[in-house]
Amino acid sequence: MTPISSKLPDVGTSIFTVMSKLALDEGAVNLSQGFPDFPISEELAEEVMKAMKAGLNQYAPMPGYPPLLKAISEKVQHTFGWTPDPATEVMVTAGATESIVCAILTLVKEGDEVIVFEPAYDSYQPCIALAGGTMVPIPLNFPDYSIPWDQVEDSITSRTRMIVVNTPHNPSGAILAESDLEQLERLAHKHGIYILGDEAYEHIIFEGKKHHSLLSRPSLKPWAIAVFSFGKTFHVTGWKIGYMVTHPELMVEMKKVHQFLTFSVSTPMQAGIAAYLSSGDHYSGIGPMFQKKRDLFLDCIKGTDWKPLASHGTYFQVVSYDEITKENDYDLAIRLTKEMKVASIPVSVFYHNRTDHKVLRFCFAKQDETIIQGAEKLCRILK
Ligand SMILES: Cc1ncc(COP(=O)(O)O)c(C=O)c1O
Repeated sequence: MTPISSKLPDVGTSIFTVMSKLALDEGAVNLSQGFPDFPISEELAEEVMKAMKAGLNQYAPMPGYPPLLKAISEKVQHTFGWTPDPATEVMVTAGATESIVCAILTLVKEGDEVIVFEPAYDSYQPCIALAGGTMVPIPLNFPDYSIPWDQVEDSITSRTRMIVVNTPHNPSGAILAESDLEQLERLAHKHGIYILGDEAYEHIIFEGKKHHSLLSRPSLKPWAIAVFSFGKTFHVTGWKIGYMVTHPELMVEMKKVHQFLTFSVSTPMQAGIAAYLSSGDHYSGIGPMFQKKRDLFLDCIKGTDWKPLASHGTYFQVVSYDEITKENDYDLAIRLTKEMKVASIPVSVFYHNRTDHKVLRFCFAKQDETIIQGAEKLCRILK
């Protein structure tokens, strides 16, 4: 057989798969991959069952199930004060993941450059490569993971087509400030650059802080594509359901791509979520619930040489081990899983050049017992 020429030669098995498998093989507490291990809302599950039993089991309309599109539009009105047209500005996708692919395939062309801040969620670069573009990585400032705006300005060329931002940010838990949105707005207008906002963790934000969405800036509208994840919001990551909100002119093109990526998304899940959203406020408790889990994890490692960095959102806590050992983060994550029986993610994997700041990412979207068990293992002396 003639060997095929890979479109993604540098892509291997993701670290999330590797660490989760290792955790299973080693019987380790899995604080690596980002998924909750607790039950979902009974009411939400029942709404999905009801939809199935009511016969909502065939293809949904391509852009989304209309009551869900409407519920999303109302939610944007409630949170950001304007009402996207459900027919022309909202689309339901197979997770935030599909919205990201769709936005990049739609807007990035051969030779285009896309600015991505590192550490970065792992799906952006392969999507940019598939679209024929080039990722221009910019490292976030360490240790607060803020955006180095001077460097962004210097990195913009005539080929810069898009900037990808992620807030709240995986893996660091950093969040964008109002001033960051001002910078994005300035650059979008000055250079004609699209801004893709990965806001998958919009509701997982702590200390009552405000989520600064691209959707909160009216003048960004022609340039902004904001993507969201019901999977993250309602602890149903396995349902793979999310959505995007963007300008009608961009949405026309996004729909063409979505039509041939997935065509449409699971009907009973969409109907179930729509019914659930109409039954009351299911959003405001999410941040405080995860904040308690973060604080439980922090309490458990308090007073040790594990030094947590600030986490303002997401369900991740980045911890420095610089005072414990100088080994590289990948080796340490493997060793911790095998010897201490707790799995984490080395943050260097989120950098194209494997920058190693001696920090590991722990997922606290777990039952309290799991968090306590994992943290206790970490606190045993590590030599
Ligand atoms: C930053 C970020 N964006 C997008 C996604 C994907 O979301 P979904 O599961 O809805 O596709 C994830 C999942 O881990 C994520 O961490």
